[in-house]
Amino acid sequence: MNEKPDFYKIASNEIDKILSGNYAKEEKLKALCDCLAHNFELYDWVGFYRVREDDTLELGPFTGEPTEHKKIPMGKGVCGRAFLEKKTLVIGKVENEENYLSCSPKVKSEIVVPIYKNGGIVAEIDIDSHHENAFDEKDRKFLEITAEKTSSLF
Ligand code: SME
Repeated sequence: MNEKPDFYKIASNEIDKILSGNYAKEEKLKALCDCLAHNFELYDWVGFYRVREDDTLELGPFTGEPTEHKKIPMGKGVCGRAFLEKKTLVIGKVENEENYLSCSPKVKSEIVVPIYKNGGIVAEIDIDSHHENAFDEKDRKFLEITAEKTSSLF
């Protein structure tokens, strides 16, 4: 039998290693982006946005093509909405979204997962895919656990 490797497990172990490593927080965030992007074929762009005091989301470390959306106002796009709605947003087809900020015409689906600290959202994990419906319930749970683990980096 030719079983598919469990990429969630492989990535989860790598994430734990990265987090326990002895290097700077910013480097850890970048290593996490790389880890997610290389383990999951459908994760084409992986990045962190930080919540700033001026009510914007600011792009942090990311893996993938550069984006023009370095600062996102609250409520704008999927990232800004996930913050206001205080929940993970899974968008199967970005073309159906009215309130959406496009980074590239190649992007077809997206997931945004809030990262909480002391009861508030301090950052978000944002992942884009070049495939429609790339993110299912398993991705959502895995990324919410990952978000919890990364909270100490913010
Ligand atoms: N699509 C996001 C903007 C960020 S890029 O995906 C990197 C949004 O609608 O908020």
